[in-house]
Amino acid sequence: MKNILVTGGTGYIGSHTTVELIGQGFEVIIIDNLYNSEAEVIDRIHKITGIRPHLEVLDLCNQEKLDAFIKKHKDISAIIHFAAYKAVGESVNEPLKYYRNNLLSLINILGVMKLYGIPNLVFSSSCTVYGQPEKLPVTEDSPLQPATSPYGNTKQIGEVIIKDTTHSNENIKAISLRYFNPIGAHPSSLIGELPRGVPENLVPYLTQTGYGIREELKVFGNDYDTPDGSCIRDYLHVVDLAKAHVVAVKRLIENKNKKNYEVFNLGTGNGVSVLEAIRSFERVSGVKLKYRIVGRRPGDIEKIWADPSFANSELGWKTLSSLDEAMKTAWEWEKVVRSNKL
Ligand code: UD1
Repeated sequence: MKNILVTGGTGYIGSHTTVELIGQGFEVIIIDNLYNSEAEVIDRIHKITGIRPHLEVLDLCNQEKLDAFIKKHKDISAIIHFAAYKAVGESVNEPLKYYRNNLLSLINILGVMKLYGIPNLVFSSSCTVYGQPEKLPVTEDSPLQPATSPYGNTKQIGEVIIKDTTHSNENIKAISLRYFNPIGAHPSSLIGELPRGVPENLVPYLTQTGYGIREELKVFGNDYDTPDGSCIRDYLHVVDLAKAHVVAVKRLIENKNKKNYEVFNLGTGNGVSVLEAIRSFERVSGVKLKYRIVGRRPGDIEKIWADPSFANSELGWKTLSSLDEAMKTAWEWEKVVRSNKL
């Protein structure tokens, strides 16, 4: 059995990936500082899979503690590194907090990989590295644009740090996965996205508004150069996204990678506007959503969607869920969370 270390494994994408890894027979160890998640997620992973992964509550910025932990777990085959701060707006106001946490934790992870001979890393990157692309859809070769936030910068710089490390040390291999917009929840409704406070992202804001927790959804702009004037994104089901991590980890462990460092776009290939996302929500929930068009959100990208063909052909991975299916699971999750049925 292969041991996989998942950092940020109680978080949104980390918990779904842990479930998929366990389903494929991997043993998962989680490191998380519970900054933006709860330890009870482990109970729910247990409920779904019948297996309780070990949770080590640890801050990855604490090099000594990380070192001491890894020393005791030298049989780790791969690390999937999710743990990071991700609030774009907050990162603009508190850049040092973001640079310190997101970069230091990554550097410490690479440090222990080097020190203890852990050979494989999967890194949680983002389509934010492309900025506003000139040509759509975006391929992995599309030029990177200057990031529009310190958060985005940490993803770009993170990729560079990994690339340089894999080039200087051929015993370390890595894959960066550039996610487009993950949405939805596990079909069991036992795990999902649990933003603290007011959500920044569209779908949790949408489902909370549908449930009556928020008064109305503000649609940030309808004067963009898109068919209905609202911004376009590529929304993919988080379970599809989680499965891509299992494929990437297997590729590295089985030495099927073609280069020491590889990058893949993970998206559906379909661009969906904010107004279309609202209509999808209304279709699957039967709830008429209260929304209002307001001004543009500073730093927003007008339109972006993936060309996932490289991931399709090289990883043999593609998204299986439709927008409506993903949206439905987001709505079911919201209802379960709010009715205290967890
Ligand atoms: C942002 C980041 C992305 C990051 C992700 C994680 C940028 C450019 N993108 O994605 O890198 O990985 O967050 O948190 O910084 N919208 C509304 N009303 C709302 C909320 C959102 O209209 O209340 C619209 C936005 O204008 C956007 C779309 O919904 O067009 C999606 O927004 P959001 O869910 O915040 O994701 P991104 O901005 O794409």
